[in-house]
Amino acid sequence: MSLSDCRLIDLPKIQDPRGNLTFIEGGRHAPFEFKRAYYLYDVPGGSERGGHAHRDLSQLIIAMSGSFDVILDDGYREKRFHLNRSYFSLYVCPMIWRRLENFSSGAVCLVLASEYYDEADYFRDYSEFQRHLKGAA
Ligand code: TYD
Repeated sequence: MSLSDCRLIDLPKIQDPRGNLTFIEGGRHAPFEFKRAYYLYDVPGGSERGGHAHRDLSQLIIAMSGSFDVILDDGYREKRFHLNRSYFSLYVCPMIWRRLENFSSGAVCLVLASEYYDEADYFRDYSEFQRHLKGAA
């Protein structure tokens, strides 16, 4: 798994004059089954979220409302994604450092995760993340 596996995935959009509908099926649209959803909201202007990597967790990130940037980093290079539609999702594979920034006002960030919350799965220190990558290389 590497940065090139992280990609934008278009979600189905059922257009309807009464309002549009999008759905996500685990193992189909998301390339993994999900056990957990969480969301970020009321993010003050200029705030940054994320700033960590996960050992085993796969995630799908969606801008349900508003927009923000997600910067993915595999320890060697970075890729920036601007999420601004509720039918775009960003797949983030394990062992990728991520930062979320540039939140518009009223932005809501939904994350679908492959596992329950587990603090032991986090790298919260960038140098430790890099040391681990070099050790695994
Ligand atoms: P964290 O993952 O560091 O947030 P972000 O990456 O968006 O900046 O989580 C912030 C806090 O919330 C941390 O104390 C752990 C807690 N938390 C849970 O208890 N359950 C969860 O599912 C998540 C994502 C976080």
